[in-house]
Amino acid sequence: MAIVSFSLKDKIALVTGASRGIGEAIARCFAENGATVILTARKQEGLDTVAAAINGAGGKAVAIACHAGQSDSIAALFAQIKERFGRLDILVNNAATNPYFGPAMHISESAFDKTMEVNVKGYFLMMQHAAPMMVEQNGGSIINVASIAGISPGPMQVVYSMTKGAVINMTKGFAKELGSANVRVNAIAPGVVETKFAQVLIDTEEIHDRIVGMTALGRHAQPNEIAGAALYLASDAGSYTTGAVIVVDGGSTA
Ligand SMILES: NC(=O)c1ccc[n+]([C@@H]2O[C@H](COP(=O)([O-])OP(=O)(O)OC[C@H]3O[C@@H](n4cnc5c(N)ncnc54)[C@H](OP(=O)(O)O)[C@@H]3O)[C@@H](O)[C@H]2O)c1
Repeated sequence: MAIVSFSLKDKIALVTGASRGIGEAIARCFAENGATVILTARKQEGLDTVAAAINGAGGKAVAIACHAGQSDSIAALFAQIKERFGRLDILVNNAATNPYFGPAMHISESAFDKTMEVNVKGYFLMMQHAAPMMVEQNGGSIINVASIAGISPGPMQVVYSMTKGAVINMTKGFAKELGSANVRVNAIAPGVVETKFAQVLIDTEEIHDRIVGMTALGRHAQPNEIAGAALYLASDAGSYTTGAVIVVDGGSTA
């Protein structure tokens, strides 16, 4: 037997925002390491494509559409998970939104509310549904995808940064409450990753050069480079890690 196991064999994992970007990379990585992955996002079509690719490669994936900012949609998702699988071992809260880029003093109330709804309430409600299942099983791993903006706010992204700060705070709070039931709760704080979400930052030369200039590795990340931290936290390799924030930013905050 290996001294350290990264295997997710026989584990059921839910990954939100799994139709592209970081969520897709984490879902594919988990499936490669033996988990059955439940993929969610708003649009069924994108999820079906990722599920077909995973199943085609010999993995196990199902796609269930869910709006991460709507409580009835989340409740329906968990009802399906209970009915189809009867358990949940891993939750990756990853689906988030950032509808506004500009000075905080000019953000509209609707953009503020939407950012809070998906990035804070959505993460919280997902945990509120997953945690009792994990407590009953006497084990589980919750991974919240935050951001380095949650540690030090990014200019023009104050409200988004506030939500990521809240994610880090709720991660630590849930970790303290759930540790005695062997449920671990951790966060990952990525730097800039090449996805649709970060397209504006990557395509605007001036912003991109400034960000990359602060990064020890001298480049932004690819989505797969975030998945390794998630695998560590999801598997027995991370069995003594809880309440932690793993920064994966190429050294930009070093
Ligand atoms: N990219 C970066 O530079 C970066 C850096 C730090 C942190 N992050 C964090 O990483 C996470 C993933 O971002 P990403 O860059 O991979 O983004 P992405 O490529 O744009 O993917 C976002 C995923 O979330 C889904 N999604 C969006 N809104 C949703 C909602 N309301 N309900 C359910 N699903 C929703 C999208 O599918 P649908 O559109 O079909 O819903 C998609 O699957 C986010 O938490 C983000 O804050 C990203």
